[in-house]
Amino acid sequence: MQEISVFKNKNLKKTPTMPDLEEASRDFKWEDAKKEIECFEDGKMNAAWNVIDVHANGERKNKIALYYEGDDGIIEKFTFGEMSELSNRFANVLKKLGIQRQDRVFYFLSRSPELYVSFLGTLKAGAIAGTLFPAFGDDALRDRLLDSGAKVIVTEGPLKERLYKIRDSLPDLKHIIVVKNGADTSKGEFCYNTEMAAASSYFEIEKMNPEDYSFMLYTSGTTGKPKGVVHAHAGIVQQYLSAKWVLDLQDDDIFWCTADLGWVTGIVYGLLGPWACGTTQVGYGGRFKPEKWYELIQRYKITVWYTAPTAIRMLMAASDDLPKNFDLSSLRHLCSVGEPLNPEGVKWSVEVFGQPFHDTWWQTETGSILITNYPCMPIKFGSMGKLFPGIEAAIIDEAGNPLPQGAEGDLAIKPGWPSMMRTIWKNEARFKEYFRGNWYVTGDTAMIDKDGYFWYVGRADDVIKTSGERVGPFEVESALVEHDAVAEAGVIGKPDELRGNIIKAFVMLKPGFTASDDLKKEIQQFIKGKLAGHAYPREIDFVDSLPKTRSGKIMRRLLKAKELGLPIGDTSTLEND
Ligand code: PRX
Repeated sequence: MQEISVFKNKNLKKTPTMPDLEEASRDFKWEDAKKEIECFEDGKMNAAWNVIDVHANGERKNKIALYYEGDDGIIEKFTFGEMSELSNRFANVLKKLGIQRQDRVFYFLSRSPELYVSFLGTLKAGAIAGTLFPAFGDDALRDRLLDSGAKVIVTEGPLKERLYKIRDSLPDLKHIIVVKNGADTSKGEFCYNTEMAAASSYFEIEKMNPEDYSFMLYTSGTTGKPKGVVHAHAGIVQQYLSAKWVLDLQDDDIFWCTADLGWVTGIVYGLLGPWACGTTQVGYGGRFKPEKWYELIQRYKITVWYTAPTAIRMLMAASDDLPKNFDLSSLRHLCSVGEPLNPEGVKWSVEVFGQPFHDTWWQTETGSILITNYPCMPIKFGSMGKLFPGIEAAIIDEAGNPLPQGAEGDLAIKPGWPSMMRTIWKNEARFKEYFRGNWYVTGDTAMIDKDGYFWYVGRADDVIKTSGERVGPFEVESALVEHDAVAEAGVIGKPDELRGNIIKAFVMLKPGFTASDDLKKEIQQFIKGKLAGHAYPREIDFVDSLPKTRSGKIMRRLLKAKELGLPIGDTSTLEND
């Protein structure tokens, strides 16, 4: 096991919202937590109400909800009151277009004020919101829009063409709304600005059952196409409480979550959770650049910052002198998610910002942070931290039996926490695959130490985490074999110092094609166009054959073992051994 060193932060700038984990966990009941979330009569609710309108109707009406800064340097700000009115308008636009409760409304949009507004408006109208990563290529886009049956898409000029390439294969898509001034109304597109201006700023918010769906997000597994993970309005209870206790949000904080709204971190902690706490958030629509990031912290006096290990490593690689050119003294609490947080990153942040990064563990499926290092407790370098109150977890074996303390095995959670996914869209069978006995099985392997700290070991399956993004090898393999030159392909994650893992493909060419660097580049470009920039194989090896099981499945485990020079293990099912 790793060398353990324990870090106690003596530089806390505020008393944490949760001063003592044991005390908060003792006698914790979700029933009590629910009381902190305002409901309508008969227990009906709407997460958008808790996120925006409770503040807009109260003392935070004129408080800034969002500072938005675009790539072009233009800065916009919105109060809770303004966000409430704008999202009401968007809900009215959807009603005018005939959108019913639980219809799907998707956004193929860069981070922009319109994205926050339309997401909230969708929830208010009782429909299900779905964000899409703006870098998605044709296949990635088609898979998600087709499966979800989205009726409305909100998009923007530069991304529109990608949508039109696949529009004919989307029978459920009824309306395209284009933000800014990019709509071509002669094609039947709706202009966001025109529709919003014509809509009323009053909207009778839909009163939902807590179990009604609020948003859905596609994520990858080992096999098959991305699956639509569906969340319910009731999840806001935990999204609120974790933003309060883990991100430690307090009323005068300025919070920045760097994740794109196309991923779960962006939705839950770049929109829902912090606003449920009434916190001012910063949204940055531009690209990653170390000096720009530091400039943002300085300009907005960001106090709480949530980012990812790859970004931290990139900042570390930039230059030790760079942060000295900025006033970063506003920072008081730092958190990280998505991949293992190296101890070096935590030590570096203490040196540079005077504050440690706190690791947080969760998944698209869990809907909020379940394991973390709280500001009130000592950090063991390299550990993910401890459980959130009300969460029961264990390390289990293949039969579903909990293993003793110190053993490595499958990280599993007892179902029933409020923000847990409710189903996989139109695929109950796939939802059921997550469970073993009474446990939800995360797909991660981990260990719990004698003090109750959780230690990440790895993925139990072939899912690849690259720069914190989750990529399924099957998606990449399927896209690869669509290239004219590719006969078969096997894809693995190869450990990488900067990105955690990179995607590596082993490709068998069709007869008549010759391996070359040019062909590699062409294949890489092809995948970027189909999936997304983060999902293309940075390394490609051309091979004469691929190891397969007798039933014809590519043995990625073997490809990986060979690549990393590890023992090959059991090959009894191998076809060509
Ligand atoms: O493997 C774990 C890794 O990211 C997976 C979940 O990915 P996704 O659904 O895209 O959600 C990412 C952000 C919520 C997990 O199964 N992961 C997440 N957090 C950590 C992590 N691995 C190690 N340490 C973490 N803190």
